[in-house]
Amino acid sequence: MRRFARSPLACVAACATLMGAPGIRPAHAAATPSRNPSPALRTALGRLWLGAAWYPEQWPRSRWPKDLALMQAAGINVVRVGEFAWSALEPRQGDYHFGWLERAIAAAARHHIYVVIGTPTDAPPAWLTSRYPQVLRVHADGRRAQHGNRRQFSYASPLYRRFCRDIVTRLAKRFGHNPDVIGWQIGNEYTDESYDPGTRRQFQQWLRHRFGTLAALNRAWTTAYWSQTYSAWNQIPLNARPGNPGLLLAHRRFVTATWLGFQRNQLEALRAHIAPRQFVTTNIGGLGWSANWDHYAITRPLDIAAWDDYVGEGQLDAYRNGAMSDFVRGWKRRDYWVMEAQPGFVDWAPVSNSLVKGGVRAMTWESIGHGADAVLFWQWRSALGGQEQYHGTLVGPDGEPEPLYAQAQRIGREFKRASAVIAGTAPRSRVALLFAYASRWAIEFQRQSRRYDQLKVLLDYYRPLESLTHSVDIVPASAPLAGYKVVFAPSLNVISAKLARHLRAYVLGGGVLVLGPRSGMKDRYDRLNVQRQPGPLVPLLGGRVQQYYALDKPVAVAGAAGRGTGRIWAEALTPLSPATHVLLRYGAGNAWLSGEPAAIEHRYGQGAIIYLGTILDGPLMHAFVQRRLAAAGVRSPFGELPPGIELMRRVGAGREVVIVINHGEAARKVRLPYSMHDVLHPGHIVSTLQLDTQGVAVLERASPD
Ligand code: GAL
Repeated sequence: MRRFARSPLACVAACATLMGAPGIRPAHAAATPSRNPSPALRTALGRLWLGAAWYPEQWPRSRWPKDLALMQAAGINVVRVGEFAWSALEPRQGDYHFGWLERAIAAAARHHIYVVIGTPTDAPPAWLTSRYPQVLRVHADGRRAQHGNRRQFSYASPLYRRFCRDIVTRLAKRFGHNPDVIGWQIGNEYTDESYDPGTRRQFQQWLRHRFGTLAALNRAWTTAYWSQTYSAWNQIPLNARPGNPGLLLAHRRFVTATWLGFQRNQLEALRAHIAPRQFVTTNIGGLGWSANWDHYAITRPLDIAAWDDYVGEGQLDAYRNGAMSDFVRGWKRRDYWVMEAQPGFVDWAPVSNSLVKGGVRAMTWESIGHGADAVLFWQWRSALGGQEQYHGTLVGPDGEPEPLYAQAQRIGREFKRASAVIAGTAPRSRVALLFAYASRWAIEFQRQSRRYDQLKVLLDYYRPLESLTHSVDIVPASAPLAGYKVVFAPSLNVISAKLARHLRAYVLGGGVLVLGPRSGMKDRYDRLNVQRQPGPLVPLLGGRVQQYYALDKPVAVAGAAGRGTGRIWAEALTPLSPATHVLLRYGAGNAWLSGEPAAIEHRYGQGAIIYLGTILDGPLMHAFVQRRLAAAGVRSPFGELPPGIELMRRVGAGREVVIVINHGEAARKVRLPYSMHDVLHPGHIVSTLQLDTQGVAVLERASPD
């Protein structure tokens, strides 16, 4: 799995390079812990948190001490409460019952367990939806949602938002200074938009605000096509899929703005009353990769990012989960929380199998290695009724530990040992992958090939990068890039003039930018760029895409990096300047492509822009990436790792923490380039590790920042 072409003996020198030898620019600020963290950040990221979702409202009060004692014995130090408890907090309109929550918080505190309060707004009570049915959301097909599930509200409804504001304000006033409450989670996994007439009017107003005139909107969306021209704002549809790409892109931006408004309504209510040391976040679902709205925009006003990390069917795919974790870290470019983690198995996958024994521990430590400072299992114990009876838990229906409990207990012990060592450290990367929602959406609206899966394309880049550097940032394309030696942009389909200026400045400043297929085809309204690809970057590249092709079968590709194939998508490139060099060419097989450039490069001093027009097979992609990294002097000190071994580094506070996990099925030996303290076995110093399947090591050594 992990491949590395360098000899371990070369590692010491490489390490010096990596740790900031002269000539190397400092690492990207995004990956370093904040220099002056706010009180809220100090709370959220100042130690390791192990937790569970606990729903005290579902159990008699007499049961709480037993649950909390079991949690304490497992090393749990935080619980998340209240997120679906509206009908317990306000059983009748205006009749508030917060006493039970206060007692639950106090009971947890007696067991040294802190609390994150979830606002209950994802589960409006029946009195609300029956008295005010206009707050119910409308599905895309026009059906109105009903009570009896959750998330049945319209995210845009001003009336629903007033109810949310009221309950959240009251909760904030009551618990905003409670010493045992450390933070707040707004709602739960913002998921479903609404297609009701009120939301449609809001969309039209939003467009009016954005475009100013219908003439501007008609121009931006090329509505002359198929007679789509609008002569009044109220003619514009809300649900037009499949439809005009300009409209579809605008709708995704509107959905983002509307969820932001939904969140702001609660955020303002919280911030007006809570102590600065209490953090505010929301738990993002969809396995991190869902794209109904822009995760960067939603997490911007929050203190920390948090996500819900599930495997579902099958076993942990360490690369995918590592990539998603790095993606989540990129939302705010800082450490984050795993607000929900899979306690063995779920109840919603086609096959809800359990992770292998030891798999939950390995997955937990993988999250920490990629920048999580908290992992909370969902959930502590299943409710006896309700829709999720089959879901994995730590405690069974009889209230006694499930087999997984012992593993949680082990993690709890390990977190206690590692917490102080990990505090103040964060992953630090010299390479980045760029991501942008506009591009993600634009390709999704018009895939052209059902095989063009953007997550797979991202992972094609991530895999070699991760195994060669052991630390990859995945950041928004607009992020500061100067600290990165090499930046890869796998599918940056939408390149506006502003983004082009940003990328150009990076290259001219000495950075190496590698653009992947489908780059720069569209402008910010999802119109075709008239320069052809990569649009406004054609002059910088000194070349362009002559034609793109969705492939029905692989094509041969060869160049200095080796020989192999291009799959799924291929673009024939044309150099337009004598300074533009061809790195790869298509071979025989497809007459449109044979002999045409598949990758070109234009250098600018230390910097360069490279365009790779196809999706290379695994080995050729590895070689291609390796050459780019070698030219930029980026190397990991840990050399070649055995298959199945994942290694992650966190740096800061004068130390380097290395987490090594064996995801493979066989035991493996890992040689380290230097001796390190074995954090999980205090007093031991190691330079070689022997890891069983699912084995984890946490190592530390003093190291300059
Ligand atoms: C999450 C949700 C939780 C629970 C969990 C089950 O999406 O936030 O409330 O339903 O799934 O896996």
